[in-house]
Amino acid sequence: MAEFKTILIDKKEGVTIITFNRPEQRNAMSPQLHRDMYAALNELRYDKETRVIILTGAGPSFCAGQDLKQYFLEMDSQPQSVRDEVRRLSKLWRNELIRTMPQPVIAMINGWCFGGGFTIVTASDIAIAAEDATFGLSEVNFGHFPGGEVTIVLTEHLQPKHGLFYALTGKTFTAKEAERIGLITKAVPRTDLEKETMAIAQDLVEKDPIALKAVKEAWYYTFYSPPEVAYEISGLISQRVTQQHGGRPGIQQFREKKYQPGLGAYKWEK
Ligand code: ACO
Repeated sequence: MAEFKTILIDKKEGVTIITFNRPEQRNAMSPQLHRDMYAALNELRYDKETRVIILTGAGPSFCAGQDLKQYFLEMDSQPQSVRDEVRRLSKLWRNELIRTMPQPVIAMINGWCFGGGFTIVTASDIAIAAEDATFGLSEVNFGHFPGGEVTIVLTEHLQPKHGLFYALTGKTFTAKEAERIGLITKAVPRTDLEKETMAIAQDLVEKDPIALKAVKEAWYYTFYSPPEVAYEISGLISQRVTQQHGGRPGIQQFREKKYQPGLGAYKWEK
């Protein structure tokens, strides 16, 4: 695996943890971080050892949003070609790559999460936060608005009375509130954050990767397609899954009374 300047990568027993590693800048997303994340995810999608990905932050912050100095002030004086490249990568890794990764992606929100940091949370398939993590759409506080993809993806995830309230007021909110409004999956005590996230990751490692990829594809295609197109796509994914398995081994094992599908995963061939 290549070495990166702004992120750390740690692989253990099928789980790959990517840590945003700019703690002095509260893991704000610099142009280099966008380049690193784009390259890392592109490499990991083909990595057979990576069956689940966890995204988290070093130090007291998950992600303080875009780097207000490097992504905005300094970029304003860069040539158009550089601005275009950085904007493109910034959008791609958060909005396209995470969703189309074959592996499930879990955001483990350990602290501050502001502005563009929300798009990492919304792009991830599962999001677990420490109860004392703080969220905020702070853009309005500095005379901007939740730009780029932030408003676009939030309108998919939040009810207007929740999303508009926080976008207009710039007020911070707790992980419990993030759970209530459906921004995250679950808020847990800080002391349990790693344990609970790893338990979910290990559970996913036990699942058939062909099925996990299909769940993600069906979910996102369904969301973005008209119902009749979604139905067709779902049918095609289903056919492909059966072909890839060479049949229905999970159902065969049920018939042979080898396990109970309601209570756990079948033994798939590694
Ligand atoms: N961009 C660039 N640098 C940042 C950012 C950021 N988004 N957030 C924090 N930093 C830097 C600070 O400039 C400071 O650097 P310095 O030590 O060189 O002065 C360092 O990180 C520590 O910041 P503090 O404010 O001292 O840290 P603290 O833990 O007290 O507060 C907090 C953290 C609340 C996150 C605060 O830094 C903050 O409000 N940051 C801005 C958050 C924000 O508004 N993000 C939205 C960006 S816009 C977008 O994403 C679309």
